Amino acid sequence: MHHKVTIEPFRIKVVEQIKLTTEEERRNFLKVANFNPFLLESDQVIIDLLTDSGTSAMSTEQWAGIMRGDESYAGARSWKRMEKEILSLTDYPYILPTHQGRAAEHLLYNHLGGPGKVFISNTHFDTTRANIEFSKATAIDCPIEEALQPNLIHPFKGNLDIQQLLENIEKYGPENIGAVILTVTNNSGGGQPVSMENARDISKICKKHNIRFILDACRIAENAFFIHQREANYKNKTYREIAQEMFSLADGCIMSAKKDALVNMGGFLALNDLDLALKCRTVLIITEGYSTYGGLSGRDMEAIAIGLREIFDPDYLCYRIKSTTYLGNKLHEMGVPIIRPVGGHAVYVDAKAFYPHIPPEQYPGQALVCELYLKSGIRSCEIGSVMFGKNDENGNLIPAPMELVRLALPRRVYTQSHIDYVVETFAELLKEKEQVKGYKITYEPHFLRHFTSHFEQVTTLKKTPLVNMEEDK
Ligand code: F0G
Repeated sequence: MHHKVTIEPFRIKVVEQIKLTTEEERRNFLKVANFNPFLLESDQVIIDLLTDSGTSAMSTEQWAGIMRGDESYAGARSWKRMEKEILSLTDYPYILPTHQGRAAEHLLYNHLGGPGKVFISNTHFDTTRANIEFSKATAIDCPIEEALQPNLIHPFKGNLDIQQLLENIEKYGPENIGAVILTVTNNSGGGQPVSMENARDISKICKKHNIRFILDACRIAENAFFIHQREANYKNKTYREIAQEMFSLADGCIMSAKKDALVNMGGFLALNDLDLALKCRTVLIITEGYSTYGGLSGRDMEAIAIGLREIFDPDYLCYRIKSTTYLGNKLHEMGVPIIRPVGGHAVYVDAKAFYPHIPPEQYPGQALVCELYLKSGIRSCEIGSVMFGKNDENGNLIPAPMELVRLALPRRVYTQSHIDYVVETFAELLKEKEQVKGYKITYEPHFLRHFTSHFEQVTTLKKTPLVNMEEDK
């Protein structure tokens, strides 16, 4: 029999209680949190779609591995297992463990960066960009044109624009390119996949110009699923073989294990180049920990080794992508504007199109994030002018290119009824959308304002000047 329903390919052995709350209680919680869901307590949240990072449920095998964790300071068995697993997956011989992805970014990009250096990517994730800019180098995003049109269907919207890559190499000179970084899948661009053909083209160009090619591989298994499904000649390859082929095209990778590797903490840097690895290792030992544990416990490394196998299990990966697609398709059918096609780890709602009456200065994404929480206790994340908007010298907003709300799905955590609850909430939000008002910022810190800003709902559509309560540093 052909089943239409894709079931969760696991059963539940341990449960974590969700505290159910009423709308009235949530109204109060949100007020106390100054209308910023980052400031809510997790017990005040019913379904947490803030991030897919570090929020996975581990398997019985991983928990069993945790008991086997070897906590020796140097040369631990658990490190050997993790190293062996990464080597067999990536074929990069020099592997450095770190406590999470951004620590690996810091080691590598601080070394390759510096004034005058340029990095080119399909889209640099925020922490990648921050680490590059922190070294005083420049980060340039070159997504393909199609990536900036939310409703346009393209099989590999995560691809890097080859023409722009060539122009930038010409403009800055190959000797000044710190690295070309391919983020798979492209998180900031909607969790969209990158094709093998694109990776192959980049690899050829980088080899020709002697430029280093690095993969940001934190969602590479999800990316492999899309290649298997959408790219010619990959139907008969396993997901793991597809990932291995992609690793073979690059000179190294950074991986936050908090995503596809199905653990709550961890990451690594893996390289082909011994000299570069030795330089990074010195800083690793100074800042993260000895080179056979980085910032990790033995038990974390054991769980990563096991997680890196589990992610390529066809039943898991199929369920994973189908559950994201299920949510995205349901929302699209109802008329909720989303980035299409649906990506791997999250559904991105276009809040500007959802609340066309709320101007960017009044943060339509923040309005949607608050409404979702009030109605149903669902926590999501604004990726728009609150996160990326900047103020000019008069305090007027320079808006972000898109006003998005990300519904990121933790791995193996929620079941279909949780997702149906999210869908039901959107049906209600659609009915009342004309009445929803925007927000103004009443307090904002100097950096990364989305985490800690305070908001108030606006009563009129008049522009309100921003208040910065922190001393300028
Ligand atoms: N690269 C990508 C593509 C990411 O999505 C992230 C984290 C990192 C690097 C950094 O890894 O958090 O382990 O230091 N993304 C999270 C998110 C925070 O919510 O998308 P990390």
